[in-house]
Amino acid sequence: MKAVAVHPGTPNSLHLREIEKPKLDSIPNGRGVLVKVLQVGVDATDQEINEALYGNAPVGDDFLVIGHEVFGRVEEVGSAVTHVKPGDFVACTVRRPGGSIYDRIGRSDITSEEVYFERGINLLHGYMTEYFVDDAEFIVKYPESMAGIGVLSEPASVCAKAIEQAYIAQQRLQVWEPKRAWVMGAGQIGLLATMILKLKNLDVCTIARSAATDNMKAEIAEQFGASYISTQNQSLQDIAKEHGRPDLIIEATGNSRIAFECMNILNLNGALVLTSVTGGSRRTEIESDKINLEWVLGNKLLLGSVNGNFRHFQDGIAAMALGAAMYPGVIERLLTHPIDGMDKYDQLIPLLSDSSVLKVFVNIAT
Ligand code: BGC
Ligand code: ZN
Repeated sequence: MKAVAVHPGTPNSLHLREIEKPKLDSIPNGRGVLVKVLQVGVDATDQEINEALYGNAPVGDDFLVIGHEVFGRVEEVGSAVTHVKPGDFVACTVRRPGGSIYDRIGRSDITSEEVYFERGINLLHGYMTEYFVDDAEFIVKYPESMAGIGVLSEPASVCAKAIEQAYIAQQRLQVWEPKRAWVMGAGQIGLLATMILKLKNLDVCTIARSAATDNMKAEIAEQFGASYISTQNQSLQDIAKEHGRPDLIIEATGNSRIAFECMNILNLNGALVLTSVTGGSRRTEIESDKINLEWVLGNKLLLGSVNGNFRHFQDGIAAMALGAAMYPGVIERLLTHPIDGMDKYDQLIPLLSDSSVLKVFVNIAT
């Protein structure tokens, strides 16, 4: 069967290749699920993998099948599988357990081991192919009536986790009733986080570079009920003066400089959640004394969040269901750039490099 892969370590090595169709019984104890891949989303991580800034091939292979955002339909299940059946729509988690205690309790998203295993990213082949097999533990059932936005399940899981982590960590304050949230970046993570925070009834500013006029990302943020603010003519300090300092910031610009700039803005007792995966080597000068003083005196929290486990997928899908009911037709607008078939793989990277593009995904089967 066909697959789209890279040679990790070699920039711009994206290519189409033939791989073997996986077998249901490659997963022991009747726990296998064979899934037909319908759609695979791509994101900045795939771009970094193609640039050889990030990602590794499975041990013994010189290629890595890419694709970590999958939506598919179950073809066949092993005898011990009860929560999905052939014909069901499903998403699938990205990380696979290593050996730490967190990995062993279903929390590989917070593994304490340096080496992590992620399908389509690090040490495991991904989903940009025709079929995959995995353990039932990682297969998440998805509602048929919202199949049109199923390819957003993985990014939604990442957002659901990032926001959940902030709320859990803020229990340190005994009472935390955040009023204002800022979402930095208006890509898929920024917009889905905007939606989830609006569903939690926060006052949300979605902040990104591009001007607000003729900007679909701005329109989507506003359709979710947020204010879209461009940083073209306004600094973050100006925005904070006008709109008030945020109690919660979700940083998803992909730019580490902005992550540190946000430290100047956060309100007292606030939480700043970093989600950008930055494989580069940018350096930034910061006002360390000022920031340090304000963070100590303000009891502020800095939190990193990556990936999402089975439960975060369920939370992300539940948020999409509520979002679809609350803001009809809006989530679909994220799905801007379908590519029909893996044969057109060479269109992926140019589209990913275009900052006006919101979501690129490959239609693999129907
Ligand atoms: C993926 C996550 C993954 C992270 C780090 C992101 O693009 O969506 O699932 O954990 O990259 O590799
Ligand atoms: Zn991703």
